[in-house]
Amino acid sequence: MTDAPMPEPRPFSPGLEGVVAGESSLGYVDGERGRLLYRGYRIGDLVAHGTYPAVANLLWTGDWDPTHRLPTAPIPAPVLAILRALPTATKPMDALRTAVSAWGATQDLPWPPTVEHARAITSFSPSALAAFARLRAGLEPIEPDPSLDLVEGFLYQLNGERSDAETARALDAYFIVGSEHGFNASTFTARVVTSTRSDIASAVAAAIGTMKGPLHGGAPSEVVDQLAQVGSADHAEAWVREALDRGDRLMGFGHRVYRAYDPRAAALRTVAEGMEHRPDWLELAIQVEDVVLRVLAEKHPERALKTNVEFYAAPVLMGVGLAPDLFPAAFSLSRHAGWTAHILEQAADNRLIRPDSNYVGPAERDLPA
Ligand code: ACO
Repeated sequence: MTDAPMPEPRPFSPGLEGVVAGESSLGYVDGERGRLLYRGYRIGDLVAHGTYPAVANLLWTGDWDPTHRLPTAPIPAPVLAILRALPTATKPMDALRTAVSAWGATQDLPWPPTVEHARAITSFSPSALAAFARLRAGLEPIEPDPSLDLVEGFLYQLNGERSDAETARALDAYFIVGSEHGFNASTFTARVVTSTRSDIASAVAAAIGTMKGPLHGGAPSEVVDQLAQVGSADHAEAWVREALDRGDRLMGFGHRVYRAYDPRAAALRTVAEGMEHRPDWLELAIQVEDVVLRVLAEKHPERALKTNVEFYAAPVLMGVGLAPDLFPAAFSLSRHAGWTAHILEQAADNRLIRPDSNYVGPAERDLPA
């Protein structure tokens, strides 16, 4: 037994809320003004003038080249064998995490991670998710078509046919707005793994595992459920008022950080409105949104409750034909650009991430005799 005192607790922030845990030149989230910038460029401009591969390249290199292309990559044979061996009931996020982990075992990924590593994993994962989605449906995977850019290629490998340009454009816009959002939980995870000088596949597999949690990967499928309950635009007002009277939250509205209209929702809405042949889901969402915003403003004059990204993510993903259980994995595909850019940024100025904790357990004591 010693008389050494136990430490006094020091102030800390649960969930690291408000803690500045590093510096980044990648994404800037301005909740007050409703701004999201990637390397200084507005998200709306990037959606209007760029593609997902161009935005990924911007995040990785800092260079804006709107013609930059990134076709999907073939799946190494051992990875495909593992995907074939998974039970058909496997959750898509588990399949994607497993595929990324297996992919890492087939690659030479020395420290430090490079832009080539980032390109390789970002172009591999869409092929893996598409292959899994087909295998669980009893269909054979489809080889990448190198003439197609990443999002078109993913849809081709998923559906077995080329999608129309507007559909691919809508999903590409979704991928762009999902690319990067600062030090969120999965991105921070990727940085922690990288800070140990581990490889990019390990960091991305851990990030997928983090995003799998419902507090992060979100539930845009709940937006789909609510839209299905609304059913038609003329029923929207009555449905919204009844839901609010019951005390329900309307999915796809409100945000912890954004007080203004979520710029990602604005960019997706612009793309949706520009579609000549809007899928029914998009059409209904656009009509319901106006009603919801009007009723929320009336019921909560004190609080700016605006549309968030999930409201448009859901109908875009439904509209392009993705099954709702693929939504979180599609979100993960889009976030590959941000994760890998943060991995490169962390590695370029690395310091092992190792925070401290307050010990609140028993004081020093003797083992029972
Ligand atoms: N529908 C109805 N009322 C709402 C909504 C909503 N979507 N959002 C907020 N309110 C009301 C509530 O009455 C709330 O008061 P209460 O806590 O007493 O019920 C009041 O507005 C104030 O809410 P905030 O402080 O702005 O909300 P908070 O920051 O706690 O939560 C959140 C933000 C979780 C996003 C919330 O707005 C919500 O539940 N939205 C619906 C779910 C959703 O769309 N989630 C996706 C977010 S986007 C993303 O994560 C990528």
